Amino acid sequence: MIESPSILLDGNPVPYRPGETLLEVATRAGQDIPTLCHDPRLEPMGSCRTCLVEIEGWPRLAPSCATLAEPDMQVTTANPRIQRHRRLLFSLYLADHPTEHEACEDGAPCELHHLAHRHNADPNWPHMEPLRADRPGDRNPYVEFRADRCILCARCTRYCDEVEGVNAITLTGRGSETTISTSDQISLMDSSCELCGGCIAVCPTGAMAEKMPLVAGAPPERELQKVRTTCNYCGVGCQLDLNVDPSADEGRGRIVKVTSPPPGTITGDGNLCVKGRFAYDFVHHPDRLTTPLVRQPDGSLAEATWEEAIARAAAGLMGVRERHGSDALGFVSSSRCTGEENYLIQKLARAVFGTNNVHSCAAT
Ligand code: SF4
Ligand code: SF4
Ligand code: FES
Repeated sequence: MIESPSILLDGNPVPYRPGETLLEVATRAGQDIPTLCHDPRLEPMGSCRTCLVEIEGWPRLAPSCATLAEPDMQVTTANPRIQRHRRLLFSLYLADHPTEHEACEDGAPCELHHLAHRHNADPNWPHMEPLRADRPGDRNPYVEFRADRCILCARCTRYCDEVEGVNAITLTGRGSETTISTSDQISLMDSSCELCGGCIAVCPTGAMAEKMPLVAGAPPERELQKVRTTCNYCGVGCQLDLNVDPSADEGRGRIVKVTSPPPGTITGDGNLCVKGRFAYDFVHHPDRLTTPLVRQPDGSLAEATWEEAIARAAAGLMGVRERHGSDALGFVSSSRCTGEENYLIQKLARAVFGTNNVHSCAAT
């Protein structure tokens, strides 16, 4: 039997698979190493320096997200030297970041504030105004870039390049003026952007934010309730989280935004398209049917309970079968339904009504 290679992680032998980074090995072993520029969907960049660890024989601390495990490496993930480094680093990050934690989190949670608090960053360092340029007046309806919150981790630009394959945004400028920009600061609407919103989802600080809840003055994400559901726009059936303000609309609740579940936890890996991520306002549209309607003898439609509506539909279908036979019926399901719902439609057609006249628009 071939033994897997291992490293000594905080004094304990931990096996690894060739090609794994120290961060991956340590996370699998239960160590909680802070990260800001890391996303498992992206190539490591090693830019934020939060995940540094000590490797025996190496003169400097090394980024665990960008360092591959090698046989018999001796790695330390926490000691006074690493703690000093993290405290200093987070204090530096906070120096040109919005200082008030709650105000900074007017939209999504800010991972920087959380980590800075956890690692005892000094909040009293002199504050300097960020020099990074915004992209004001971008008329795109969904994505708002707020440069004062940006820590230049480049998760957004790498996502746009490596996952979306679009390259609509990029790092531009030099030194402390470096920022996230489109070509010539044009609107995302005039760029190659597909408005997938992935840059918002990966941003650790809320610098890349969803515009609609900000414009509407909606409560921050920490006050919203997440409801996991299946997107109903196409047959892929991506999982997504509706973020609901439970007190809105006289206590009936209102969807404020959609977020994607963490990568690696669902089909779709946390990636969504423009419809799944942003086109949720149909749910609250006044024209939407929220109660079954049943045709009256005079041709008008009247509200009914689900029981009444299902009984009427069943009676109608049974009547056609009795009068004209099973094959007089046909069932059409939709690619907007889940796989389970499409399965049930064909089951209803074949097992209950005895016809193979069943089709889904996804098949054409
Ligand atoms: S919305 Fe999608 S395509 Fe547009 S910039 Fe962001 S990641 Fe790129
Ligand atoms: S906008 Fe967000 S994801 Fe992009 S570089 Fe800035 S902090 Fe990172
Ligand atoms: S997470 Fe490793 S350097 Fe940013």
